[in-house]
Amino acid sequence: MLSDRASSAEPSATLAINAKVKEMAAKGINVIDLGAGEPDFNTPEHIKEAAKAAIDKNFTRYTPVPGTNELRDAVASRIGRIRQEVLISPGAKYSLYLAMQALLNPGDEIIVPSPYWVSYLEQAKLAGAVPVVTETEEFQLDAEKLKECVTEKTKIILINSPCKPTGAVFSKKAIEAVADIADDKDIFIISDEIYEKFIYGVEHFSIDSLIPERTIVVNGVSKTYAMTGWRIGYASGPKEIIAAMSDIQSQTTSNPCSIAQAAALAALTGPQDSVQQMVKEFDRRRRYAMKRLSGLGMPYIEPKGAFYIFPDTSSLGTSMEVTKKLLDEAHIAVVPGAAFGSDEHIRISYATSMNNLEKAFDRIEILHSTSLYD
Ligand SMILES: Cc1ncc(COP(=O)(O)O)c(C=O)c1O
Repeated sequence: MLSDRASSAEPSATLAINAKVKEMAAKGINVIDLGAGEPDFNTPEHIKEAAKAAIDKNFTRYTPVPGTNELRDAVASRIGRIRQEVLISPGAKYSLYLAMQALLNPGDEIIVPSPYWVSYLEQAKLAGAVPVVTETEEFQLDAEKLKECVTEKTKIILINSPCKPTGAVFSKKAIEAVADIADDKDIFIISDEIYEKFIYGVEHFSIDSLIPERTIVVNGVSKTYAMTGWRIGYASGPKEIIAAMSDIQSQTTSNPCSIAQAAALAALTGPQDSVQQMVKEFDRRRRYAMKRLSGLGMPYIEPKGAFYIFPDTSSLGTSMEVTKKLLDEAHIAVVPGAAFGSDEHIRISYATSMNNLEKAFDRIEILHSTSLYD
């Protein structure tokens, strides 16, 4: 009955864990959720007020397909592009989807460094393309290995820094090397920079500053402003590609929500102190999580960005086994690394309160000491 396309799409593993956690919570089980892919903070007040004002002003009709001029200009001025090079979409996930739909033909290849966000692979497949996974070195982009994956069919290299699920921030040197490969081989780049503001003691470097003529940057307000439910993402890149993405958007979703666009405009142009406060708090939790993992003797690579830590749990079983044990016996939800192409790790999100983190690590410590992993 179903199309080949629908039958081959994998449901999101992270969403499946969320569903199980909600089910356990509904039964009254106190599950500590370290699986969250979104900030645990509320959307700042001034952003919510802008949305309320938009409703009161009846800003409730269709907007231009690529987004309001004001919001496109606000994004453009932030990143040094012009309005025609910016497209607002219902979430960054959809911006990614549109970029792939606009660029990939069936049989084209897209190189994705591992560990990766699984949606990259699934979206590539939905465009009829072939995802080609390249290994990283201690979660850092390895340009040499990546180069070995390039064929005459390679159309896109996708990079995600800061990276979900590892928290790695790719070095300027590695990004420069990838830009050289792309330039040399006539390859486009999709650079997912949604965690751009969540960095701890390092610089975020965008490949867009090197090869803007072949880069589509995907970003949005979901993570930076704690606005995951509002569904506003954006893409920037060469005018022709943005126009093609906009045409696909016009036939699929029309414009992003008018009210959410008004809120996103307030987010981008209003006070930024909430972002700084959030980053400061994430950094505090990041350090705490590292301290506790070190205490448990669980190996990890220090994450320099995003709000995840990706410890190596290979000595305890497959990532699914470890995830299941943690959920069933310690009532802690994490995401198995297998969902990101690495069965040797689990993903811990510290987008939860310090109190929750403390309790969660105490429970893991007890589980560890009673050898329940055996
Ligand atoms: C790496 C990465 N890119 C893009 C997105 C999508 O963001 P949005 O919620 O704006 O669709 C996410 C959300 O989980 C993400 O983690």
